Amino acid sequence: MRPADLARRKQAGLPISILTAWDALSGAVVAEAGADAVLVGDSLAMTVLGHATTLPVTLDEMLHHCRATARGMASVCSPGQEPLLICDLPFLSYQCAPDDAVAAAGRVLKESPAAAVKLEGAEPETLAVIDRLVRSGIPVMGHVGLTPQAVHRSGYRRQAADAPGQQRLKREAEALERAGCFAVVVEHVPPDVAAELRAGLAIPLIGIGAGEACDGQVRVTADLLGLTSRQPPFSPPLLQGRALAVEALRRWLSSQSHPTRPTAPAAPHC
Ligand code: KIV
Repeated sequence: MRPADLARRKQAGLPISILTAWDALSGAVVAEAGADAVLVGDSLAMTVLGHATTLPVTLDEMLHHCRATARGMASVCSPGQEPLLICDLPFLSYQCAPDDAVAAAGRVLKESPAAAVKLEGAEPETLAVIDRLVRSGIPVMGHVGLTPQAVHRSGYRRQAADAPGQQRLKREAEALERAGCFAVVVEHVPPDVAAELRAGLAIPLIGIGAGEACDGQVRVTADLLGLTSRQPPFSPPLLQGRALAVEALRRWLSSQSHPTRPTAPAAPHC
């Protein structure tokens, strides 16, 4: 799958499904499940690395996870049949200057099998960066609405809640299309606003917490599998993976207790 194939799916009226992954195991699982594209999202800073926000993850860490994800995907896909692999550009790898952004995104394409990068926002500086990346041959996916890298400015609340916010969102999505993005993620906005955005865009609009009327959906796989301790309200789990794992491991651990072995003191509540 290539970036342009997502636009072809939109034109053909076919839905686009994107799942995140962070290592070989999750990469193999989401590829085997049939995702059209796999995003190594910087949400891994929170879900996998235990940070409070996405801000601390570095480009080297993203590359490490992206390469591992690609190995997992390759283990279950015939060559050339892998889902499109997209890697998030982490905070401050693209905001400081267009040259830095080209170097960061170039590293992603040179040092991993990712074929595209995603970055957040649509401020004039970000649009200039996207234009430069696209002209350098680097496919870019945009991301508007709730942008977690701006948590200290905008929080995690629903965006585009009022008319000025909705007009801004529309301007941003259209500007991302003009700047050359091959698709745009819209996160945590009212469904009717997303539906209107989609109708005005030629490129695919991929929603998360934005209703069903988008061209496709993206989900954080750890949320869908119920592995994270708290899921966002717009991404309910499909199964209670964490509770199932804890229960299975507890059963195994208790099957290991042996009369001659001293019983371990009760674990502190965690
Ligand atoms: O980092 C991520 O996982 C994302 C998705 C929420 C789209 O950006």
